[in-house]
Amino acid sequence: MDHTLACFLLLLYLTFCASASPRSTSRKFHSYSTKEEVNSPPGWHPVGQAPPEHVLQMRIYLVQPDFSVLEQALYQVSDPRHQKYGRHLSKRQVDALVAPAPESVETLDDWLSSHGFNTSSLPRSSAGDWISISIPVFKAEEMLRTTYYIWENEVNNATLIRTTSYSLPSNLHPHVDVIQPTTSFASTTRQGSTLRVEVIPASSPPIDRPPLYTQSGLEVRPSCNTSINILCLKQIYNAVGYQASEKSGNKIGITGYLNELPGPEDLKEAFVAQNLSTTNATYNFVSLNESAIFSAAEGVVASILAALAAGSNQAAQTGIEANLDVQYAFGLANPAPATFWATAGSPPFIPDTEFPSNSNEPYADWLAFILEQEDIPEVISTSYGDNEQTVPLSYATRVCNSFAQLGARGVSVIFSSGDGGVGDGISDPTEQKCFTNDGTNTTRFMPGFPATCPFVTAVGGTVQIPEVAAALSGGGFSDYFARPSYQDSVVSAYLAALPPGTYEGLFNSTGRAIPDVAAQAVNYEVVYQGSTIGVSGTSAASPAFAGIISLVNDARLSKGMSSLGFLNPLIYASPSAFNDIISGHNPGCGTPGFNASVGWDPVTGLGTPDLQKLQSAFA
Ligand SMILES: *[C@@H]1O[C@H](CO)[C@@H](O)[C@H](O)[C@H]1NC(C)=O
Ligand SMILES: *[C@@H]1O[C@H](CO)[C@@H](O)[C@H](O)[C@H]1NC(C)=O
Ligand SMILES: *[C@@H]1O[C@H](CO)[C@@H](O)[C@H](O)[C@H]1NC(C)=O
Ligand SMILES: *[C@@H]1O[C@H](CO)[C@@H](O)[C@H](O)[C@H]1NC(C)=O
Ligand SMILES: *[C@@H]1O[C@H](CO)[C@@H](O)[C@H](O)[C@H]1NC(C)=O
Ligand SMILES: *[C@@H]1O[C@H](CO)[C@@H](O)[C@H](O)[C@H]1NC(C)=O
Ligand SMILES: *[C@@H]1O[C@H](CO)[C@@H](O)[C@H](O)[C@H]1NC(C)=O
Ligand SMILES: *[C@@H]1O[C@H](CO)[C@@H](O)[C@H](O)[C@H]1NC(C)=O
Ligand SMILES: *[C@@H]1O[C@H](CO)[C@@H](O)[C@H](O)[C@H]1NC(C)=O
Repeated sequence: MDHTLACFLLLLYLTFCASASPRSTSRKFHSYSTKEEVNSPPGWHPVGQAPPEHVLQMRIYLVQPDFSVLEQALYQVSDPRHQKYGRHLSKRQVDALVAPAPESVETLDDWLSSHGFNTSSLPRSSAGDWISISIPVFKAEEMLRTTYYIWENEVNNATLIRTTSYSLPSNLHPHVDVIQPTTSFASTTRQGSTLRVEVIPASSPPIDRPPLYTQSGLEVRPSCNTSINILCLKQIYNAVGYQASEKSGNKIGITGYLNELPGPEDLKEAFVAQNLSTTNATYNFVSLNESAIFSAAEGVVASILAALAAGSNQAAQTGIEANLDVQYAFGLANPAPATFWATAGSPPFIPDTEFPSNSNEPYADWLAFILEQEDIPEVISTSYGDNEQTVPLSYATRVCNSFAQLGARGVSVIFSSGDGGVGDGISDPTEQKCFTNDGTNTTRFMPGFPATCPFVTAVGGTVQIPEVAAALSGGGFSDYFARPSYQDSVVSAYLAALPPGTYEGLFNSTGRAIPDVAAQAVNYEVVYQGSTIGVSGTSAASPAFAGIISLVNDARLSKGMSSLGFLNPLIYASPSAFNDIISGHNPGCGTPGFNASVGWDPVTGLGTPDLQKLQSAFA
């Protein structure tokens, strides 16, 4: 490829063409060695070499030498027994704790300069812990001594431009943590890609059956046994009659990916159907693309750039997942001001030589944006995930550590635990592929990431009144993250009670265990393009749980207390605020999965929330 021609073609995207004469430097960048190597991911195969001029939006993440200090601070402000409980850190404090060493910045800048990049014009995070470059494939291949291929997914035909290994000059290794897109084959599937959808008859028969009772004795409408709406959730989770304040300052947010947007008219209709006032059936819609993210990184007020008025015509892209998430999270938290972030990316995408979008990693994009914000909603729910093994350990760790930053700032980060039981997220267990990607191709349970990140709260699923575990409920043990101390005693107790040799070799008993908690996950009434449909999945459980936590925050903020922030140390210290789910199991990978049982279990965690108990304990 002719370099000059490439520069001409890509003038818009390239910064390195502008300063072609490398800055003189005493550092030498040769003697490359491999930085990371992964096995070919199952389900993906290379279909050809990547177009040399295709532009990658690449982020280079520098090592965060003080991360352990941040982690310690996170646990102090999140542990109700600690005197610093609730004294969350500011953005500035968190930025300082994730900042790279000056020498790391200098070494990376020298290397980039030696390749012609104008380092003073590259977007960086305010903490300085990542730098973003627009780089054509041929240049990335030269700098990383690698070859990029177009990979195609066998199931959904999505394509990615990735490599299975890359190298760096040896003197950069101690400074650079992660570079992506390189080796990550995460494809960000919505848990709801397996959502079961059925049309609910418009007029249900009159309700003359006797009421049902939850295990803690709360009265629930009989229809809630088979079909869930907001009133059902309020009844089951003891939230009837709690009126959230309009003045508490409490906020809630939902993240969306895959170009799936909520329908504003559907939200209004859902509020009407749920007897909620429609005056607050609105939300801030924030569309994130590269330019909005980079502007945020440069300190421009992102809301000016990125927030579009709610109610714009989004009908064409209205998605079931997005509708489900906003109707339940925003409905339960109502009237808390609500935000929906739509992060760019709409697979299957066809690699294009001109447009740089879609080449990056969606969680990283959203995190890059949100961490630049001063004011972040206190509760954020996400119903998307990937098989943990499709995300390289280095990158999963970096993304997970970013969730710790949110927790330290007082944000509860909530993820659905997955819809495949112990299997790979595909809800039909016969379709599941439970094979390791480590070269041995052995059968293994497939936990989902980011649910396995110890700094997020993972929500599994239940069904019926009284509640039992939903078979789809994603649960199990991380192969990446060690078991955090907050869950050590309950998880050890569960493991000790398993028959000896249970599922030996199928899971790592010392890994972070999921889920942490659960909520109803089957047959939610969702308004979608004007009709009511029934939707199932932990996709539903996560926004429902988030909505209940938002009400606890509302009570706390109304009393001048802090938000709850990172929930796990608190909830594992307070199991009695949850309804323990003791029956059902989560089959997958050709096994019956784990059993729900007394105490914590890898199907429903500690159980489902009880708002009054949570509020009397914490607000
Ligand atoms: C590098 O970028 C800075 C900031 O955008 C700009 O002022 C400077 O002129 C650029 N230098 C070159 C050599 O292009
Ligand atoms: C993927 O491509 C194949 C061959 O073109 C086609 O038969 C199949 O329907 C596609 N699958 C999806 C999910 O689009
Ligand atoms: C609730 O639903 C389950 C599963 O369909 C059913 O077995 C049970 O009888 C129902 N309970 C009542 C009281 O209708
Ligand atoms: C809404 O209110 C009406 C009238 O009180 C009642 O019949 C209906 O069941 C309520 N709907 C829900 C979802 O609570
Ligand atoms: C909710 O609606 C009421 C009445 O229109 C309005 O005063 C209030 O500001 C709204 N609250 C939010 C959070 O939008
Ligand atoms: C990116 O987002 C900004 C702010 O929302 C918008 O003005 C711009 O048109 C978007 N660009 C693309 C390519 O979608
Ligand atoms: C792994 O093993 C399974 C079952 O034996 C087989 O179907 C699959 O093709 C194998 N995958 C690889 C990558 O070898
Ligand atoms: C199990 O998990 C721990 C902690 O994450 C890890 O150190 C260890 O290598 C894992 N063992 C296996 C066999 O995967
Ligand atoms: C689940 O419970 C069944 C019935 O009691 C028992 O046979 C099975 O061994 C249990 N499985 C696990 C993984 O504990």
